[in-house]
Amino acid sequence: MASIVIGCSQGRVLGKLLAKRLKIPYFDLSTEKFPDGETRIRFRQKLSGKKVLLVQSMYPFPNDSLVELLLATETARELGAKHVFAVVPYFAYARQDTRFNDGECVSNKIVARMVEDAGADAFITVATHLHRISSLRDIFTRIHSQNVLLGKEIADYAIARKLKPSLVVGPDWESKPLVREVALRLHCPSYVFRKQRLSGRKVKSFLTPGLDCRGKRVLLVDDIASTGNTLVSVAKILKKNGAKSVDCAVAHLLDEKGGKSVLRKGVDSLASSNSVSSAFSKIDCSQALAHAVARTDRF
Ligand code: R5P
Repeated sequence: MASIVIGCSQGRVLGKLLAKRLKIPYFDLSTEKFPDGETRIRFRQKLSGKKVLLVQSMYPFPNDSLVELLLATETARELGAKHVFAVVPYFAYARQDTRFNDGECVSNKIVARMVEDAGADAFITVATHLHRISSLRDIFTRIHSQNVLLGKEIADYAIARKLKPSLVVGPDWESKPLVREVALRLHCPSYVFRKQRLSGRKVKSFLTPGLDCRGKRVLLVDDIASTGNTLVSVAKILKKNGAKSVDCAVAHLLDEKGGKSVLRKGVDSLASSNSVSSAFSKIDCSQALAHAVARTDRF
């Protein structure tokens, strides 16, 4: 079966890289905004009988990106695509994974159901927020799903940049799986802080037993940086406790301003993957996505 990659409006750069890795053709999805803000999409190539990999990151403009992905998925199906894979490097709405306050929506579950209902056969994403759920399978109950962690890519980046960390740190217990994978690959010990979120912008970090960072080069890793305040809060404590340097690597940097402020506030360097494109996207996740697509083919 022939396969093609189609880059939606927030997936063009990564879509091209993915197509190159998979050695299959790449096409842009034609997209247009009506004056009232509605989205119109159009495929300009034949999809009939093909496997279509739709690449769409859901940042910036999470709502528009989601609608575009849903329109493209269902339309690809109507136009005869045999399989449609939603490749979503950054999956928005994942953080609202419970009803934190009375009357709230549980958006991760609702959005997953929308993707399934639109007709996707598989959902592939990068370092998504899995906190109160343990696996994407908890929300994608009808289709195959994969979460690519990027531990290898982050470790490779640290090696290539000669960061030479001797300790890998995570800001909260949710970062543990990524921290553990990076530490294992770099043959370093790891340590994880405890975090209390005081508001959308404010966090407080607490020491847990066993921090030994005096004189060490620390690699601080997390899934998402938005304001950057989580990274800054941890970096300050690390430096106060004698860390020689604190370099940060995150899977997704949502706000470039947040990235710049991190550098002004005591962090030595910051890199993110290209799941969301910015001046900090120094870690390419296209190879990891290509592997995930190949694995999905076996299901
Ligand atoms: C939350 O649990 C995530 O893992 C990140 O730690 C959080 O989204 C970072 O946000 P900010 O950069 O605004 O502190």
